[in-house]
Amino acid sequence: MKLTLSVIKADIGGFPGHSSMHPALIEIAKRELAKQKGKLIKDFKVLHCGDDLELIMTHSKGEDSKQIHKLAWDIFVKGTAEAKKLKLYGAGQDLLKDTFSGNVKGMGPGVAEITFEERKSEPVMVFMADKTEPGAWNYALYKMFADPFSTAGLVIDPNMHGGFTFEVHDLFDNKKVMFKCPDEIYDMLALIGQPSRYVIKNVYRNSDKEIAASSSTQRLSLLAGRYVGKDDPVMIVRCQSGFPAVGEVLEPFSFPYTVAGWMRGSHHGPFMAVGFEDATPSRFDGPPRVICAGFQLANGVLEGPADMFKDVSFDLARKKANEIADYMRRHGPFEPHRLSADEMEYTTLPGVLKKLEKRFKKI
Ligand code: 13P
Ligand code: 13P
Ligand code: MG
Ligand code: MG
Repeated sequence: MKLTLSVIKADIGGFPGHSSMHPALIEIAKRELAKQKGKLIKDFKVLHCGDDLELIMTHSKGEDSKQIHKLAWDIFVKGTAEAKKLKLYGAGQDLLKDTFSGNVKGMGPGVAEITFEERKSEPVMVFMADKTEPGAWNYALYKMFADPFSTAGLVIDPNMHGGFTFEVHDLFDNKKVMFKCPDEIYDMLALIGQPSRYVIKNVYRNSDKEIAASSSTQRLSLLAGRYVGKDDPVMIVRCQSGFPAVGEVLEPFSFPYTVAGWMRGSHHGPFMAVGFEDATPSRFDGPPRVICAGFQLANGVLEGPADMFKDVSFDLARKKANEIADYMRRHGPFEPHRLSADEMEYTTLPGVLKKLEKRFKKI
């Protein structure tokens, strides 16, 4: 029987500010999901990355299931009520609509879902980020599934040697395009090097079209038409036996590459891979964080989570990220620490620029 793994997330209030999560919200989510365990869902785990509440669920309802999405939505609504009571910061921040309309897509929460036949052994990594946008996964997914200098299996493993196909979405024009790699990596890089617009949604194995990875692609500012907070995306990656090994899936994060987000969603900064305990972006509301929960699936049961970035082998990456953070911060309001003008259009800066308009005189 086909199993669906759904990761649905939202920021429904930060504690304090945008830095982390109040335990009361985690409790509500666990309580509500426990009521459905063995009924609507097979298993679940609740985590947080910074101020984002992450619901990880297995079930047999397929992707875009109204019942599963409603379950998540109702938890976010319940959590928001508690967040308001506790006066948490930005209570209900990501809930852009008042009433549920069948699917949380387009309503604010982020969603990544994959459906597959559980293999003899099914290791899965769930990545969760705070203070950044969905395009933040582009670099990592490219390294995992298209760069043999990062993933040795692309060269060594006959089951991966055929490469992977990437489904890339244009978030501005609502279009998608498929790239068969390695043949088309140059074409693909021409687009995904602009992660604010072009985002890798899914990755499939060429030999059998099997789903390998999926990410959340919603951009809050595009949905809301204004700045509400960063998207803080999630991503699911299947590992081993014809997919990249767990260590190959984690390897891209040994380099704290630059992503957009951080303070007020308006700055570039290093993407810092941390253990669950350290997913509390505080310095200048950052730097942007990523955590990874590792699972072995056993008939739909989520054995885990293992805290994958807690490992000391990521210590140097974190040190480097802190050094880069220092370097970037010294630029203050100057680009490229501050995002480029076209991206700043979706922040609160245009309000300031409007006030200055009248003062300009012809030269
Ligand atoms: P406000 O303090 O006006 O909400 O905006 C700042 C913010 O929340 C970004 O950190
Ligand atoms: P979040 O998107 O995590 O709520 O952060 C918003 C922000 O403006 C941080 O400075
Ligand atoms: Mg927030
Ligand atoms: Mg957040």
